This record gives sequence, structure tokens and C-alpha cells, in this order.
Amino acid sequence: MVEHKRVGILTSGGDCAGLNPAIRAVVYHAIGTYGWEVVGIRQATQGLMERPPKTLKLEIEGIDPLLTSGGTILGTTNKGNPFAFPMSDGTLRDRSQEIIDGYHLLGLDALIGIGGDGSLAILRKVAQQGNLNLVGIPKTIDNDVNCTELSIGFNTAVKIATEALDRLHFTAASHSRVIILEVMGRDAGHIALNAGIAGGADVILIPEIPYKIENICNYIRKRQDLGKNYSLIIVAEAVRTEAGEAVTQDDLSGKSRFGGIGYYLAEKISDGSGAEVRVIVLGHIQRGGVPSTIDRLVASAFGVGAIELIAEGKYDQMVTWQNRQVVSVPIEEAIAKYRAVDPDDTLVKTARCMGICLGD
Ligand code: F6P
Repeated sequence: MVEHKRVGILTSGGDCAGLNPAIRAVVYHAIGTYGWEVVGIRQATQGLMERPPKTLKLEIEGIDPLLTSGGTILGTTNKGNPFAFPMSDGTLRDRSQEIIDGYHLLGLDALIGIGGDGSLAILRKVAQQGNLNLVGIPKTIDNDVNCTELSIGFNTAVKIATEALDRLHFTAASHSRVIILEVMGRDAGHIALNAGIAGGADVILIPEIPYKIENICNYIRKRQDLGKNYSLIIVAEAVRTEAGEAVTQDDLSGKSRFGGIGYYLAEKISDGSGAEVRVIVLGHIQRGGVPSTIDRLVASAFGVGAIELIAEGKYDQMVTWQNRQVVSVPIEEAIAKYRAVDPDDTLVKTARCMGICLGD
């Protein structure tokens, strides 16, 4: 008999498809199996800083639509590190104690944090400071969280990028163009590599493999010589210029973000190959929409796994997907290292053996 618990759940960092199915699974297992209570916390840790804390009571009744809905009903933010929280007067303040107090005000026995490596590192620091019972669930379209083959949101993002390539084949062929699709992924090339192979890209550029414009232009010309009148290029946003500079843009708040490498490449490739080039930046479309089947499965399994960890009293752990099993690892291990594409990865080999140009 597992004692009654009141479990808090929050989503932190960039949204993605699959967050809501994970919340749904937590609700089903915690309430349906154990008869516990589940308290949704709004806007990531910011909900715990509010007085009273901003919450959403979660019940089995009415939860089913979450299975097919994108985003997060709890809201999220990828700004506002509680250890250096930007205040309205322009100063930064450490508000971590307010989160700890919020956890106790709600009478929580445990907290599930769904986040990427950055969010999980912050949550762990708060949990250690306040002796809170934290369990992590990895999510990010970038799939760069260490120790897990899949993070929630990745599969849907790959599916969307693959569909974009599927569509671009026709228009590129009709106009005999080179089309460059720029995809997200932060510092890693997982989305570009996976969607590139699945969507039949001719060139895949990822930050983990240095490229030369000359190699790409030669490859495009060779295709033209073979009578292939168009080429599709997929490029990860963190790919640098040939000189090694990151291509970024400032958002309205002045924060610099990846974006624009596609336009840099377009100019160089147009000059070097004579081809007519167009650029599509897929952007946040990759984070939206109905969660894919795989994301629904992984999210459901992670939600159940997180509740099991709480039932066993195993905290400071993150659920992970390894060899089609949900297992757990210390959060410390998951945030210790960044999971980039391994240049010896089986998909890199697959791309090379299929004649896809990786630019090197
Ligand atoms: O980490 C997820 C991600 O979508 C990255 O791939 C991308 O670089 C970034 O977030 C975009 O952040 P924002 O939503 O703040 O524009």
C-alpha cells in the first residue's frame, strides 16, 4: 500500500508536442492507480513564485483531449532563471526560495518537472537547496538530453520537417531549384539528420560535421550532370559559416538566437553553383501541432514511469528511454553532458552510404 501523495507537475522551457499526453498519463496513473492528487503548476517555476501559487487542479474527468493536443495546458517559459530572475526594475534577483516556499504552501510531496537539460539543471538546484522531492521527464524537440534515446517532442518535430521536405521535392523539381530547409535543434543536428534521411534530402548539414561550400557546389553540379535538375538541402540552425561564425538574430528583447544560416548558404551556393536557390526557415512550426504516435507513446510511458519513481520514493531521478524501455538515471548524469550527434552514429553512416552529401 503506497501512502497518499499530492504531486505537483510543471512544464518548463520551450513547448513541444507530447507535453499534454505526458500530463494525461501522470493524471491517469497517480489518480487512477493510487488515488493521489495531481496539482498542475502554471508557467513553469513562475507559478510557484506567485502568491497564492498559480495552479490547475488536474482530474481524470476531462483529461482525454490532452492526448491529441500540442503545447502545454500548464503554460511554460524558457526565460526567467529563478536564480537570476529579471525584475521589472531591471535588476536580477534570486527567487529560488520562493519556489521552495510555494512547493510547501501547496503541501506537495513530490514535483514532476518536464524539461530539457537547462530546465532540469535549474529544477535540480532548487530541489537540492530546498530538499524537495523532484522527478524529471525529458522533453525537447532538439533531442539533446543525455542518457535518453528520445525526449518528448523530437519525433513530432522530425515528422513535421520530413513532411516539409516531402512537399519541397515537388516545387524544387518543377522549377529546377535548390531549396534549403533550415530546421531547429539548438546546438545539435538530430532533427536535420533524421528528417534529412527520412525526407530524401540530397545534402544534410549538421553542426557536428564541418562542411565546405565547394563540396556542396560540386555535389549539386554532379547531380545536374546526371540529369537531376533539383536538390534539397536540410541545414540545422546551429551550423556555422565556413569561417566558423554562428549565425544568429536578435529577438525583440535583444536576446540572440540561432537563425539565418540558410540565407548565408543560399548566397554562397548560388554563387558557387549557378543554381537558383530558395530558403525556407521552418521555425516554430516544428514545435506545434498534434503529437505523433511515437511522442504519445513515449510521453505516456514517461508519465507512468515518473509516478512509479514517486511511488518507490526514488527522487532526483529522470525517466529515460533506452532500448524501448523506460528506466531512470540520476538527473545529475542527464545534465552532465550534452547529447550531440555522434559522427559515427548509425544514421550518419546511413546517409553517407546512400550518397547523401554531408558537406565534408
Ligand atoms: O530548444 C528548443 C528550441 O525550439 C530550439 O530548437 C530553438 O533554437 C529554440 O528552442 C527557440 O527558442 P524560442 O522559442 O525562444 O524562440
